Amino acid sequence: DCLDVVVVGSCMTDLVSQAPRLPKAGETIHGHKFFIGFGGKGANQCIQAARMGARTAMVCKVGKDFFGDNYIQNFKNNCVSTELVKQTDEAATGAASIIVNDAGENAIVIVAGANMLLGDEDLQHAWPVLSRAKVLVCQLEISPDTSLQALRMAQQRHVKTIFNAAPAIPDLSADFYKASDIFCCNETEAELFTGSAVSTVEDAGRVGLELLKRGCGSVIITLGPQGCVVVQSADATPVHVPTSKVTPVDTTGAGDSFIGALAFYIACCPELSLVEMAKRANLVAAISVQSVGTQTSYPHRGDLPAELF
Ligand code: RIB
Ligand code: NA
Repeated sequence: DCLDVVVVGSCMTDLVSQAPRLPKAGETIHGHKFFIGFGGKGANQCIQAARMGARTAMVCKVGKDFFGDNYIQNFKNNCVSTELVKQTDEAATGAASIIVNDAGENAIVIVAGANMLLGDEDLQHAWPVLSRAKVLVCQLEISPDTSLQALRMAQQRHVKTIFNAAPAIPDLSADFYKASDIFCCNETEAELFTGSAVSTVEDAGRVGLELLKRGCGSVIITLGPQGCVVVQSADATPVHVPTSKVTPVDTTGAGDSFIGALAFYIACCPELSLVEMAKRANLVAAISVQSVGTQTSYPHRGDLPAELF
């Protein structure tokens, strides 16, 4: 009855428009498709871990509204425990307006709403479940204080912590690094945290080492089509982990697919090295970019080659 992966994080309803390109300020353009999907970095990561076979629970807050009701059903449909999902009438379920261009790139505005009301009381409530899990995953779409508190609570009980510092905030408190067994971010986020440009694999290695010095156990910087770079405190030589070459259709949530898969491997295949886990998580995320949507594109265990398990 102990869980593999607990996510303390966000739920968003994704309102997605596909258009040939992203509009400029003040411009109206025609898109060719609109759809509503389940998103939010926290929930995305939890759903990917669950689809790979991890026993998961989500700790989050949604509104007492149609989107919130629907989201809870979505967790149930994906075998994610909803025992710690709360509904509030003080704010609406989080929403993300997303535009995806023909190159599969996106621009996103999130209105976090109910996500921002997840707080101390909810964490106290989650403590019995959280303290016995194998892995905790947090991001930055809820109040940063809540994320940090959850990471610290987990660390105190030797639950492995994965912190996905996304979306990046300037002046991220140094405490986040110390509370992260694995600190993950993408190249743009890494630039914001360090002030140095990340355009090559070498840059990522350098910046990864810099982040590592701030006190986390390991750093993973994701690089989209270039895979990722892993830096570990035990062996401070950055390792580049390339990924398979695919034609992207929609890259929205690919980073979340990666983190969710990584959480699965840490919890359920602890005998693998971190580099091997990152390699396999890259391949899972590469599948997600080849179809439309966020969670709709996340593979299930049965869709994946046996070598990944
Ligand atoms: O990382 C992708 C996610 O970011 C989307 O699902 C959207 O909800 C935003 O939170
Ligand atoms: Na996708």
